[in-house]
Amino acid sequence: MNKSNKAKDYATILDPDDIPTEWYNIQADLPEPLPPPLNPGTLEPISPDLLERIFAKELIHQEVSTERFIKIPDEVLDAYLRIPRPTPLYRAKRLEAFLKTPAKIYYKCEHFGPAGSHKTNTALAQAYYNKKQGIERLATETGAGQWGTALALSSALFGLKCRIFMVRISYQQKPGRRTMAQIWGAEIFPSPSDQTEYGKKLLAKDPNHLGTLGIAITEALEDTLHNENTRYCLGSVLNHVLLHQTIIGLEAKKQFEAIDVYPDVVSGCIGGGSNYAGFCFPFMMDKLKGKADTEFVACESKAVPHTTKGVYTYDFGDTGKVTPLLKMLTIGNDYSCPPIHAGGLRYHGMAPAISYLIQKEYMKSIAYHQNEVFEAANILAKTEGLITAPETAHCVKFAIDEALKCKKTGEAKVIAFNNSGHGLLDLTSYETYLAGKLQDYEPEKIEVKSIVR
Ligand SMILES: Cc1ncc(COP(=O)(O)O)c(C=O)c1O
Repeated sequence: MNKSNKAKDYATILDPDDIPTEWYNIQADLPEPLPPPLNPGTLEPISPDLLERIFAKELIHQEVSTERFIKIPDEVLDAYLRIPRPTPLYRAKRLEAFLKTPAKIYYKCEHFGPAGSHKTNTALAQAYYNKKQGIERLATETGAGQWGTALALSSALFGLKCRIFMVRISYQQKPGRRTMAQIWGAEIFPSPSDQTEYGKKLLAKDPNHLGTLGIAITEALEDTLHNENTRYCLGSVLNHVLLHQTIIGLEAKKQFEAIDVYPDVVSGCIGGGSNYAGFCFPFMMDKLKGKADTEFVACESKAVPHTTKGVYTYDFGDTGKVTPLLKMLTIGNDYSCPPIHAGGLRYHGMAPAISYLIQKEYMKSIAYHQNEVFEAANILAKTEGLITAPETAHCVKFAIDEALKCKKTGEAKVIAFNNSGHGLLDLTSYETYLAGKLQDYEPEKIEVKSIVR
């Protein structure tokens, strides 16, 4: 491992031999067990057996496991190394100089893989466990297309068929991701689609329905239940997804150790919570054990304020009310998400583990408008050269604001954020921003019909 000053000032590259070989499961260290998912029919905790028709068995096992570390299978580790992992941890020195701040800003680079985001970390694991179980076909939804492309890529690498329901507005706004999924051999439909009964019902009411992630999830579940050798994969929210993403934070921790630095503030953007959980949980482990007093800040959109204005209650994970009930911060499964360009943040709920940590004040959350977010993304692009994803840009905004606060106070805080993806297929959003045509949205009022508190 590189311990030189260059590593401290530029990038810390972890040797492939030092890649973590286990994922970290935060369920082992939470002060109390997370509230269990409920069967919506009985309002009793759902039996893991009932989920076997939907998910691969090993993923259900991981969902409820309280083992602290879970071994990464050799096949998944091999796939990680080829993607390639470990990803570098960069120091944003030019951004620091531009802001004239004493703060030190570091970011983890999840944008380097072929699919362009962190989503491949769990897609590879989910494809592997399904293949191992003898499943032939995967079904899923995708918002901005990042998750869909990651699963399409992973299905191709593990020899599985893949069907994707892509939120219609993103299908139209982001044709590049749809083409990538097709190149990797997946079938991809705009959602609501004519492929499911639920989709047809919605299209009959509104043929131009823009779709939401909640609707696309209902469609993918219906598709799964109608096809025997198909299983469903989810790109965020659930414990096993967050678990796989901890490879990000485990690598980052080793990288910070190598340069004798420990972050004061760890931030990331939240759609369903997976990239941020993956980045921050290995650091949160230290806070939960009383070994560090790090500040954790989750960044979301003011247009979809699931954690800043949501209610902590049981809600469905989808709009068609098919999934088990999850206890989470939610703005309601029927919330009609405005057409913001950060498509991956357009989800009504939040991972139960992240919701719990926010509720218990281990973590803060903050919301931004998309114009201020794109302004921050443009500063990052001009200083660091990196054109980041619109979703990620939310935590870039936070990092810049925090660094500017340090400029006033003179504090040399270490601020870390997770660069969850690149924005090279989101250039229309940047174009709209540069043309001054980007609109900010904020709901006047949030109403959540609570099922069980
Ligand atoms: C680049 C990127 N970052 C963040 C997200 C938000 O998802 P999550 O909160 O699960 O990381 C997405 C979702 O599509 C994404 O594509």
